[in-house]
Amino acid sequence: MTEAVLELRDLHVTYRAAGVDVPAVRGVDLTIGPRDTLGLAGESGCGKSTIAGAVLRLLPRATRVEGEILLEGQDVLKLRPGKVRAVRWTTAAIVFQGALHSLNPVQRVGDQIAEAIETHARTRSRRTTTARVGELLERVGLPARRRREYPHQLSGGQRQRVLIALALACEPALLIADEPTTALDVMVQAQVLSVLEDLQRDAGLALLFITHDLSVLRSSCRRLAVMYAGRIVEEGPSGAVFDEPRHPYARALASAFPTIGDPASRYRPSGLAGDPPDPTALPTGCPFHPRCPVVVDDVCPSLDVRLRPAGPAREAACVHVGGDDDG
Ligand SMILES: Nc1ncnc2c1ncn2[C@@H]1O[C@H](COP(=O)(O)OP(=O)(O)OP(=O)(O)O)[C@@H](O)[C@H]1O
Ligand SMILES: [Mg+2]
Repeated sequence: MTEAVLELRDLHVTYRAAGVDVPAVRGVDLTIGPRDTLGLAGESGCGKSTIAGAVLRLLPRATRVEGEILLEGQDVLKLRPGKVRAVRWTTAAIVFQGALHSLNPVQRVGDQIAEAIETHARTRSRRTTTARVGELLERVGLPARRRREYPHQLSGGQRQRVLIALALACEPALLIADEPTTALDVMVQAQVLSVLEDLQRDAGLALLFITHDLSVLRSSCRRLAVMYAGRIVEEGPSGAVFDEPRHPYARALASAFPTIGDPASRYRPSGLAGDPPDPTALPTGCPFHPRCPVVVDDVCPSLDVRLRPAGPAREAACVHVGGDDDG
């Protein structure tokens, strides 16, 4: 069996704010194979970025990170800090949420990429590095000559491409893209998405793609995981999860967005009342039950159902999902 690029086993992450524990991720299992693409979706605050940060051990504020985070078989939670730095960017790299302004404004973009390359491969000559910078820029659809420009000379979409090139500088096996298109307009979003799709296909990257927009994930990812209140509540092949979601929350999320490629489709109301729960005061039983349109009153408020089989290669955490014959 081929080794997974990333495997999370029973991951728990807790923060502490204003004297109370904030359980942001509460037992997540997840596997991404080589060249695989997994989309992670869910409303604001459900724990998506926390998972991304945990994989690269970039959560200085977390008070508890438990479980296993296996990157190419190595548990990053067991690595010494020096070793973590070596793994970060070379095995897994991240394009951060809201990072469009994180480029150094007074340094040419090419020099910023060159620095990233040189930090991890000290033996390269300046000439090889410059060639590699040009290659990386071209790979994300920017002409090599733009390496001489400063961030303010680039548009938002172009800056996002530079950030992707930066993440690729050390040839990681896994790229985590956390809402890489959210701040961009629709046309530019589509261009950045196609860059990510090409990279995944041509460079053989594994991709963990995070967004709240399920319709983006349907076309870009092979598998789809939907999170709610710190847990995955549904996982399976993208088309199946998007077109026929089994968990009522996934259903609400899928119906909130139009289908890409279907000009007749409109944004439909999701029929979902209320806000996502406060992680410090989670509802009893199934955390989705107060908002659930198909809640079973004498069951769901007391029964916290975990993921169960929901059809071929699918799982969902709902009392209405019965098992293999149910898919
Ligand atoms: N440093 C922190 N201290 C305390 N609580 C935090 C901290 N960072 C995140 N949280 C809380 O952890 C939960 C998960 O946050 P996270 O950023 O992972 O969500 P998200 O799914 O990425 O949301 P969004 O879609 O808004 O980016 C939220 O309730 C958030 O308020
Ligand atoms: Mg986030």
